[in-house]
Amino acid sequence: MAKTQTTFYCKNCGATSAKWVGKCNSCGEWNTYIEELVQKEKTAYTKTWKQENAKTILKPIQIGEIEQSTQIRYTVNDEELSRVLGGGIVPGSVILIGGEPGIGKSTLMLQIALQFTNKKVLYISGEESESQIKMRAERLPYQNNSCYLFTEISTQRIGKALQELEPDIVIVDSIQTLQSELLDSTPGSISQIKETAGDLIRFAKETGTPVFLIGHITKDGTLAGPKLLEHMVDTVLQFEGDRNHVYRILRTTKNRFGSTSEIGIYEMQGVGLREVKNPSEILISQRDETLSGIAISATIEGVRPLLIETQALVSTAAYGTPQRNSNGYDAKRLNMLLAVLEKKCGLRMGVQDVFINITGGLRIEDPGIDLGIVAAIVSSYNNIPLDSKIAFIGEVGLSGEIRAVNRIEQRLAEAAKLGFTTAYISKYNKLQTNKSGLKIIEVSMLESFFNLLFG
Ligand code: TYD
Ligand code: MG
Repeated sequence: MAKTQTTFYCKNCGATSAKWVGKCNSCGEWNTYIEELVQKEKTAYTKTWKQENAKTILKPIQIGEIEQSTQIRYTVNDEELSRVLGGGIVPGSVILIGGEPGIGKSTLMLQIALQFTNKKVLYISGEESESQIKMRAERLPYQNNSCYLFTEISTQRIGKALQELEPDIVIVDSIQTLQSELLDSTPGSISQIKETAGDLIRFAKETGTPVFLIGHITKDGTLAGPKLLEHMVDTVLQFEGDRNHVYRILRTTKNRFGSTSEIGIYEMQGVGLREVKNPSEILISQRDETLSGIAISATIEGVRPLLIETQALVSTAAYGTPQRNSNGYDAKRLNMLLAVLEKKCGLRMGVQDVFINITGGLRIEDPGIDLGIVAAIVSSYNNIPLDSKIAFIGEVGLSGEIRAVNRIEQRLAEAAKLGFTTAYISKYNKLQTNKSGLKIIEVSMLESFFNLLFG
């Protein structure tokens, strides 16, 4: 009989060590090493999935010989998910979907499962009982008799069920609850996650069945378990949003079959998640009064243009060190913009508290919204409201120059569609023809931009 083998894992970063150490060499954290049984017997590893065909698997094949037909994607009724995945589900792909507790991961996956009326979907849950899932399904406006439920945590028993049922799509809720009988460690431990995910990935690749894995995330917002899990799967989706807001955002952080930085927007309702097809309308607050400190930027998320509203509040700092607070926008970038305003435009930002908020709970990384951010800050600083029909598009550089952005035509077209009348853009965007019908004002430096805007 083969010897049992244990390894020490760092709970923080997943690094391994043959013996216990107090401080992790890899991430520097103290007291994070735990001992886990990694393997009972070598001989216990048997193929649980489809019998492999040694001829095709063992021999390298020329790229030209590989049949393309296997790459036809499954169409998904849910347009938001479909776009985020890069246009449907690739057979044999493994998709990890992470998010905070209560954000709606189980609801989203169940409603996706129920929308596949022409496919056999197996929803495996290690978290809820069949009747609990049924109760949730009854709240959703979909009916589907080809959706199977299975409450089980052992991957060996799940393997048998998969062989018998031969589903077209598998959903696992969640990877942290699964347990392989070959390992002694508890569900959710690093070795269990590696092993059970490895089993499911092998199943997906060998049978061509797409598998969705729901994953928990830790306090600091990263997916629980080893980083390795993210390397093993084909696609990583994050389901995020503020639980106090109704909007939820599905974002790709890795996608082997499509572009990342795509987003899907949903609204949590009493009857499940509703797809939000025209996000700009919800992201811009409807108001009649003109208020200072509000500016609208036209941004691009993935391939989709979005108009978003930035709110800024600038007020005299009550205490020695001024506060800077930013929701939805990079705090370091905000500090940089404030330094540029101080140095290049002579605004005394060093003695002001500055708060920034992107409405709708969105997090924007596109530097093209810089111009909107500085416009909102200066509008609040001067207490002069901006016209709500102006859209701002441009990146701000360290010398106070306004730089060109990508996909300017798409941004302008979206602004025009939503009833905007004027757009401030960078002179360097070199717009040849203006098809949008907006009044375009080209600016190159912040100082002249503020002169035009505030007179
Ligand atoms: P859930 O899918 O259980 O979250 P997760 O799996 O990410 O932990 O969703 C939980 C929340 O969603 C819960 O607080 C109730 C709410 N909800 C609705 O508002 N409407 C609905 O139709 C459903 C099913 C859930
Ligand atoms: Mg859940």
